[in-house]
Amino acid sequence: MVAEMRIYGDPILRKKAESVKNFDKSLAELVDTLIVTMKQEDGVGLAAPQIGCSLRVAVIDPTGGEEEPLVLINPKITSSSEEHVDNEEGCLSIPGISLKVSRPSLVSVHAFDRDGNEYVIENAEGLLARALQHELDHLDGILFVDRVSPVARQLVAGKLKKLAKTGREKAKVA
Ligand code: CO
Repeated sequence: MVAEMRIYGDPILRKKAESVKNFDKSLAELVDTLIVTMKQEDGVGLAAPQIGCSLRVAVIDPTGGEEEPLVLINPKITSSSEEHVDNEEGCLSIPGISLKVSRPSLVSVHAFDRDGNEYVIENAEGLLARALQHELDHLDGILFVDRVSPVARQLVAGKLKKLAKTGREKAKVA
């Protein structure tokens, strides 16, 4: 089932999401909904708060559907490189805006899969590294527009203000 996307301005996008405690059927359903919704929206990744669920769950598909999406539950970044790289980012919750964001070029992540098995991703790079950091930010209520320079943010301030109005209204009926 495809879920409705929460849009910038929706307060759930700013909440720190809660850790998953039970690897049960409802978690499996949430993961499936995230994957289906991410694919439907052609996204590289999707975090649970973006579909209105404040839990530390995210999915990532940096291969455009060629491989099974990565499922990240209670993920943590365990190390990141000092070297940063600039690249364009967008977000399904912030439609119509993309900006260059500087992020560490390499990250290692520790997470659990949908069955509760621990795993690690060592020194992810490129799109995967970027998607991991972007999605993990969502779990702490951080959006990519928070990570750009004040000047860049100023350039999209008008668009963000309009989106925020839509996002708040959608949140009220959700
Ligand atoms: Co996003």
